[in-house]
Amino acid sequence: MIPLSADALNDGSLPWHVTVLDEVNSTSDRLKSQAAELPVGTVVFTESQTAGRGRRDNRWIAPRGKDLMFSLLLKPEASLEKWPRITTLAALAICKAIETELPLQPRIKWPNDIYLRDRKISGLLAETVSTRNGMLLVLGIGLNVNSLEFPPEIPATSLLREIQSPALHEIDRNALASCLLGMLHGELHRIDDDFTAAIAEVRERSWLLGRQIRAQALHGEVFGRVLDLNEEGHLILKLADGSTHTLTSADEVRRV
Ligand code: BTN
Repeated sequence: MIPLSADALNDGSLPWHVTVLDEVNSTSDRLKSQAAELPVGTVVFTESQTAGRGRRDNRWIAPRGKDLMFSLLLKPEASLEKWPRITTLAALAICKAIETELPLQPRIKWPNDIYLRDRKISGLLAETVSTRNGMLLVLGIGLNVNSLEFPPEIPATSLLREIQSPALHEIDRNALASCLLGMLHGELHRIDDDFTAAIAEVRERSWLLGRQIRAQALHGEVFGRVLDLNEEGHLILKLADGSTHTLTSADEVRRV
C-alpha cells in the first residue's frame, strides 16, 4: 500500500492547505471542531476513521489505507442560499477527476452520491458550521478507491474493482487525490455565474435522468420519471397523474 503523502498533495499551484492524518474520528468532525482556528482551504485526509459519518446518521466505513476520506473547509463565494450548489459542483469534480485518471464513466446520483454502473463509489456530506468568523462549510468526501470487499447488503463498489484489470493491483491515491483537488478548485468557483453551464455537464452525467424513481422527500414518498434537472440541479419529475413535480431535496432516492 502506498501511503497518502501531504507533500504529494500540497503541490503549490493550488490554494489548499493539505494535512494527512493516520487516524481520526472523522475528518469532517475534526474540521468542524477547529473551524474557527483553521484557514479556509484547509483539507484533511486520513488513512482511517474511527467514527466516519454519512448522511442521515449513517456510518461511513472504509478499511485503513485503501480509499480516500477527506474534508475541506470552505467559505463559498456566494450568498448562503447558493451553498447547496457546492455538493453538485463537488460531485461534478469527482466525476471529472475519475474520468481524467481512469477508463471509467461515473454518474451523479442526485443529491449526494456518485455511482459506477449500479453501485455507489462515493458519497458527499456538506455541513455548515457557524464560527466567530462567520458561517463556513465543511465538505466531506468518501471515495472507494482500492477496497475490494463490501458487505453484500450495501450496493457499493470501488474504482479498482470496476477497472477489472488483473495487472492493476493498486490505484495511485496520491495521483487521484491531486487531480481531484485541482478539479474541486476549478469546479467550486462555478457557484455563481457559471452554475447553469455546470448543470449542463451534470445533466450529461446524471444517473437518474430519464429513469423512474422513488424518493423519500420531506412530505412523504414521491414516484415519478425524471424529465430533467432544473437550473439548481433539482429533479423535475413527471408523476403518474401526468403532472410535473420538482424535487428540491430528498433523503433517499432509488431507481425503480
Ligand atoms: C454519504 O454517502 O452519506 C456521505 C459519506 C461521506 C463520508 C465522508 S468520509 C470523509 C468525511 N468524514 C466523515 O465522517 N464523513 C465524510
